[in-house]
Amino acid sequence: MPRGERLNYLAHRHPTRSPAPSGRPKTSDERRSSRYLITGGAGFIGSHLADELLQRGYAVTAIDNLSTGRLRNIAHLEGHPHFQFVRASIDDRLVLDRLASEVDVIVHLAASVPITFVSMVRTGWEPRRC
Ligand SMILES: NC(=O)c1ccc[n+]([C@@H]2O[C@H](COP(=O)([O-])OP(=O)(O)OC[C@H]3O[C@@H](n4cnc5c(N)ncnc54)[C@H](O)[C@@H]3O)[C@@H](O)[C@H]2O)c1
Repeated sequence: MPRGERLNYLAHRHPTRSPAPSGRPKTSDERRSSRYLITGGAGFIGSHLADELLQRGYAVTAIDNLSTGRLRNIAHLEGHPHFQFVRASIDDRLVLDRLASEVDVIVHLAASVPITFVSMVRTGWEPRRC
């Protein structure tokens, strides 16, 4: 599935607590009331999903411990009025409980093994210098 379609699928798949009355498109204020929590939000998919959701008018919180993710993936979102980044592990129960209680939808993307590593293990592929 192409990237645009995949994000489209992710963004629309999750229902919100306060849907607009049927037939009427949601106003930007109503969309703002739908807050997403993305675990692994500084990772490859999480950071792209954050971009897309913000562009569609949703509010986004990203939690990431930066074990493999990078701040540069979300650096352009710094100062965005509807984005917040929390550097913490999803193992931190107190932090996760608090963040979870503040959102309508959680997209769980935090993973400790980068997909490149999984591919290498599965295929036996190893990077080589050319
Ligand atoms: N990229 C792909 O093509 C692909 C394909 C299929 C499935 N997936 C799955 O999608 C998910 C995201 O993939 P990705 O490519 O964005 O990976 P990624 O490694 O770029 O992102 C994962 C993020 O999770 C963070 N993280 C790890 N442990 C954490 C913890 N305990 N607390 C908070 N954050 C933590 C990492 O720092 C990283 O930013 C993974 O579960 C992956 O297996 C990815």
